[in-house]
Amino acid sequence: MSTSRIAGFYNLPLDQRLRKLADAAKLDLADLAAFQENGLPAAQADKMVENAIGTYSLPLGIGLNFIVDGHEVLVPMAIEEPSVIAGASYMAKLARTAGGFTTISSEPEMIGQIQILDVRDLVHASMEIMNHKDELLAEVDAVDPVIKKIGGGARDLEVRIMEDSPIGPFLVVHLIYDVRDAMGANAVNTACEKLAASLEKITGGRVHLRILSNLADRRLVTAHCTIPLNELGFIADDGLIFTGQQVRDGIIEAWAFAAVDPYRAATHNKGIMNGVDAVVIATGNDWRAIEAGAHAYASSSGCYTSLSTWGKDANGDLTGELTMPMAVGIVGGATRVHPAAQAALKLLGVKTASELAGIIASVGLAQNLAALRALATEGIQRGHMSLHARQVAIAAGATGDLIEKIALQMVTEKKVRIDRAEEILQARNK
Ligand code: MEV
Repeated sequence: MSTSRIAGFYNLPLDQRLRKLADAAKLDLADLAAFQENGLPAAQADKMVENAIGTYSLPLGIGLNFIVDGHEVLVPMAIEEPSVIAGASYMAKLARTAGGFTTISSEPEMIGQIQILDVRDLVHASMEIMNHKDELLAEVDAVDPVIKKIGGGARDLEVRIMEDSPIGPFLVVHLIYDVRDAMGANAVNTACEKLAASLEKITGGRVHLRILSNLADRRLVTAHCTIPLNELGFIADDGLIFTGQQVRDGIIEAWAFAAVDPYRAATHNKGIMNGVDAVVIATGNDWRAIEAGAHAYASSSGCYTSLSTWGKDANGDLTGELTMPMAVGIVGGATRVHPAAQAALKLLGVKTASELAGIIASVGLAQNLAALRALATEGIQRGHMSLHARQVAIAAGATGDLIEKIALQMVTEKKVRIDRAEEILQARNK
């Protein structure tokens, strides 16, 4: 890809945007056609879930201006909320002045859990499991030789004694499994089910649950960015001047609120997930798994807190970092069968699940910055309102050119409400 900066993209008609995108990404228009062909044919949906009656669509837009680990990336984002794509793109534009985002991913190791009940001597059973570790890991690797062949496979076993459960003490075995470029749920669940018989034999207990953990805290991604101080200052629409220092310090103060207060942290992290989920959904990944992992990880200190950290470096520039679990895949599941997800992966040009994880975390960090910058300066509603006003106009029954006209009038009047949209529409129809 030449550049993820496409000047005037916003102003192009929808069909021309796709052509422009294909050019920028050096792809054929046909590679991206699924984006405008309803994404997923109903007949294919019928193969994916039970009782299918059709498909449900979301807007799909492109996050512009991203540089991640030195690569220009155009990021597909599926989301219904206005301002998210624009906010992330704008922050990516600021970040690219200092080289964009850098990321680090841990190995793609997932955790499978096996619950063992009715064990007479928990400590002895734990030791016995560890004595048999090598053969248990070999048993797992025999289940999926393909994962093993491409460099993944069973890595380790851990045993935990759950002393204080409502049904009394029991054992939990964690299988650590490197799933390479898959999300990994199927591979891990299959492996856990396979181990059940051997574990019962070794412990004399009864295996109950055998399932992946969505707290994927061995599959973490960190994204980092620096925003030069001179990129942060701006003049608001009402003429108010915000200096770079004011914006930087305001962002750090806003983050500090989320760092100490779960009520604020939930909203702060929701802003991060606005960006994260949009890419996770566009690429056909399991966003419920990512949500579950993110919020459980945010609580891992014992107190729910911010997933990101904001501060300043020795030059006084703003620095941001986001670390979170990122169990996404580029093979298997919907990533393979959903035509729009396939087109999204092609557009991103990622070769590994870790690369995809890095891009997703970068978008989450950019989105967090967009929200904090707005909250710390003009407030969130101004940017939100012009796009929200269009949705209100549509809800009131406006069509065609009238949508923009009514939206503009409501924003100018600072009355973005359904009753006002209906009034304007009625007056125009008289
Ligand atoms: C809205 O979808 C997301 C925000 O509430 C995030 C935040 O408050 O940081 C704006």
